[in-house]
Amino acid sequence: MKGLVLSGGKGTRLRPLTFTGAKQLVPIANKPVLFYVLEDLVEAGITDIGIIVGDTHEQVRAAVGDGATFGARVTYIQQDAPLGLAHAVRIARDFLQDDPFVMFLGDNLIRDGIVSYVRDFEAGGMNSLIVLKEVPNPREFGIAVLEQGRVTRLMEKPKDPPTNLAVIGIYIFDSTVFEAVESITPSARGELEITDALQYLIDHGFRVEARHLTSYWTDTGKMDDMLEANRWVLEQLETAVHGAVDAQSALHGRVQVEPGAVVINSTVRGPAIIGRNTVIENCYIGPFTSISHDCVVRNSEVEHCIIMDSCAIDAGGQRIESSLIGRNVQIQPIDHKPRAYKLVLGDHSRIGLL
Ligand code: TTP
Repeated sequence: MKGLVLSGGKGTRLRPLTFTGAKQLVPIANKPVLFYVLEDLVEAGITDIGIIVGDTHEQVRAAVGDGATFGARVTYIQQDAPLGLAHAVRIARDFLQDDPFVMFLGDNLIRDGIVSYVRDFEAGGMNSLIVLKEVPNPREFGIAVLEQGRVTRLMEKPKDPPTNLAVIGIYIFDSTVFEAVESITPSARGELEITDALQYLIDHGFRVEARHLTSYWTDTGKMDDMLEANRWVLEQLETAVHGAVDAQSALHGRVQVEPGAVVINSTVRGPAIIGRNTVIENCYIGPFTSISHDCVVRNSEVEHCIIMDSCAIDAGGQRIESSLIGRNVQIQPIDHKPRAYKLVLGDHSRIGLL
């Protein structure tokens, strides 16, 4: 079986981060979301993996390389424009050949891996297996209708949802899917929809089954979901101190200090992770905070945040909470008059003022 990971897309819901970076590379507990996906595939024995890339292909290629560090062999498949999940399957035909494959959206994070789904599919009898999760807000998802474990109908963001079973970003297909993705036409939003391809399979007598995911899943497409995913992964963090912590500092609870990191005159209350070569000085770092590598954070209280690499932050003793801060961001106190906020913000930035 092969793997097809989707790491292109527009990422409009995560602007402005996605103007300069791939959302699949935003770190969750200091590790890109995409890496968790690749690890799940390799754990299920899938090592021949195609990654669909778009505008951010250079970053994805630089981060993943040939896949050897994951124990995989990676082939990059360029998608010229984000024309839909079924379009991604179309353009991967040469890579996939006639092999069955797992399609995994590169911004989805799940708890228990995909081994059981792969084994069920390999046992035979299905043309496709999709993974469903009960959600409180089914109007926002692709929704499945089932009869005795078999999927009979799929609806994209229905106004009046007949079930609360959302289709999440993990699908298994055999080669019959190519007939489906070649036959469908773009939806009203101009994309080739994977739900239409699945509906085609159902309508033409192919067997589409579903499995329910009862444990954790999130699609990290929005900032709140990123912070939630970070919270959830940090919940499982184990204490490990590989950096330097001075005698004036205290680490409480589960805290990871990565190699080369330095904690000076600060309190870190876990779960929290401090990235390699990052300096924390005169700070309170609170629970559910990930600070990536090569940052300098001084005179700040930081809680429930993701701070990406190479940031220089001095909040002048103030508190930063529930924030997602991109790479190379500088936050400095103003020590001259007029005392005012001075901002350089990209399009679609969001800030909350006191
Ligand atoms: P989405 O989150 O549905 O779409 P998006 O990335 O364009 O984001 P937004 O809705 O905020 O504009 O995509 C799910 C995953 O699939 C994500 O990892 C991006 C990827 N993808 C592709 O690789 N190609 C595509 O054509 C599309 C639509 C998505």
